[in-house]
Amino acid sequence: MRRNRFPVEQDQDVNWRIFLQLLPYLSEFRVRVMLALLCLVGAKLASVGMPFALKHVVDDLDLADTTTAMVAVPVALIIAYGLLRLFNVIFGEIRDALFGRVTERAMRRLGLKVFEHLHRLDLAFHLDRQTGGLSRDIERGTSGISFLMRFMIFNIVPTLLEIAMVVGILLYQYGVGFATIILSSVITYVWFSVKATNWRTRFVREVNQADSTTNTRAIDSLLNYETVKYFNNEAFEAKRYDEDLATWEEARRKNRLSLFALNGGQALVIACAMTAMMWLAANNVAEGRMTLGDFVLINAFTMQIFMPLNFLGFVYREIRGSLANIENLFKLLKQQPKIEDAADAPQLKVSQGRIEFQDVSFDYRADRPILQDVSFSIEPGQKVAVVGESGAGKSTLVKLLFRFYDVSQGKILIDGQDIRNVDQHSLRKAIGIVPQDTVLFNDSILENVHYARPSATEEEVKEAIRLAHLEHFVQSLPDGYNTKVGERGLKLSGGEKQRVAIARAILKRPPIMVFDEATSSLDSQSEGSILRALREIAKGHSSLVIAHRLSTVQDADKILVMRQGRIVEQGDHRSLLTARGVYAGLWQSQQQQRDEEPS
Ligand SMILES: Nc1ncnc2c1ncn2[C@@H]1O[C@H](COP(=O)(O)OP(=O)(O)OP(=O)(O)O)[C@@H](O)[C@H]1O
Ligand SMILES: [Mg+2]
Repeated sequence: MRRNRFPVEQDQDVNWRIFLQLLPYLSEFRVRVMLALLCLVGAKLASVGMPFALKHVVDDLDLADTTTAMVAVPVALIIAYGLLRLFNVIFGEIRDALFGRVTERAMRRLGLKVFEHLHRLDLAFHLDRQTGGLSRDIERGTSGISFLMRFMIFNIVPTLLEIAMVVGILLYQYGVGFATIILSSVITYVWFSVKATNWRTRFVREVNQADSTTNTRAIDSLLNYETVKYFNNEAFEAKRYDEDLATWEEARRKNRLSLFALNGGQALVIACAMTAMMWLAANNVAEGRMTLGDFVLINAFTMQIFMPLNFLGFVYREIRGSLANIENLFKLLKQQPKIEDAADAPQLKVSQGRIEFQDVSFDYRADRPILQDVSFSIEPGQKVAVVGESGAGKSTLVKLLFRFYDVSQGKILIDGQDIRNVDQHSLRKAIGIVPQDTVLFNDSILENVHYARPSATEEEVKEAIRLAHLEHFVQSLPDGYNTKVGERGLKLSGGEKQRVAIARAILKRPPIMVFDEATSSLDSQSEGSILRALREIAKGHSSLVIAHRLSTVQDADKILVMRQGRIVEQGDHRSLLTARGVYAGLWQSQQQQRDEEPS
């Protein structure tokens, strides 16, 4: 079973300080927020005024002499009532319209921040991440922010305000009784809601987690579509997915039942309070201490209080959920990249392109060393090849050179500058690569090559495509340069993808070039012509070439032979052959293989 990224933290308290972190997003639109608040006050005043209008309408109707033909309809009051209701709604709408922009902008800002942050995080993070779950967490986090901003300002605060106003009015006009009932029931209601909601948070978290896990599974399975087919594992995948869905279903069930308990409890409190209020009011009317209008007014106020209060329960619940989601998002934002520039890291200055590995040791995990005491240098303009068995650590050298990871011991120097001390961007700008596995954007061939240097003209891009021997292939396509390459470039053949990568490297044309098995997917004829082109391009550039087929690196100035993370031999082709060591053995067996192949 896959481990969940965020373990269920039982009864862990929600971090209310997250609210403070949202304030900067509000301050961007100060005037708008103020206007929205004004509308809010307007709407609340109108809503508190309505029961009064209602009371006077009822009282006037009650006193009117209905035996005469002329019934004195209190027209003005009824119109006032209608207007108050209209203001209440209109102010509310204006408020939403004004504030919508604030939340949208906050979501945009935060979305961008998360995106940039994800790209700043190191490769190790990205190799561990689960794309499906991560995207769900981000989605829930950003919508949580929007919810929180809307409801904190426009729901909790105004509802409390309204409760205070109504309690004040009741106390002032009708004595302690009504105010006490309202106040105590509000307190009971809030207390119960908070308790019950805290108890429920666990179930909400469980649902979210099951949701992320399920999504991770689905995305991972779809990304492996071909593998699933190769092994006839549709049923197996469906079973695993269904197991996750079952967990999700169970979590939802618990969540739903706990919601039922919460809503039921809240309804009970409200029903008791309403009954008590009506009973007291009815008694007062019967004893002549209150008019019918007062009865209606009290009824209206009670309804008016409990409606938003009921909503408050929902909002509190959602806010807790949102806070939990936002917390996940902020946890992600707090994650520090392991590879970071020093505060004022200077730009890398490449004058000649001399690369030096000094006693470099490295491991991905402390319990498994990968590189040990690797030392070599690439002199300006030289071509240095690395050969050796699979898993020896050849590609790891490249990842270290690009500073995807920091060395554990020793250092890597480019023209005398330790790459850990220079700006990462300037470092990567100086190195071009044809990677071992090329992954492309789901875009056109032209765009994919253009990506290497967005400032290049279309002519330059086409020239790079020509130099990479891709032109012929492109011309054979119905859509030519505009052919879409499919997700991750899966619609191209291995060799075609490799040539797109070569075209990219050609277009970038940096002072230092790295080829990691750059021609391994090509037939020997295309390989020959591409190698010639690459040699042409690499002229005057320092280059590091990783290869399995030794014949492709015979001409290198220096060949390093790696075995289990160490350099066991180095020298040029001729001297390595005469040394009769590992390299000579490899060369022998590859020559033999070639001779045995039918021509
Ligand atoms: N991100 C990683 N986390 C843990 N181990 C890794 C990681 N990447 C590579 N390794 C391990 O490091 C070792 C060296 O890998 P590397 O990719 O450098 O080999 P290589 O020499 O390029 O092999 P090949 O010729 O097959 O490409 C391998 O045993 C591999 O399993
Ligand atoms: Mg490799």
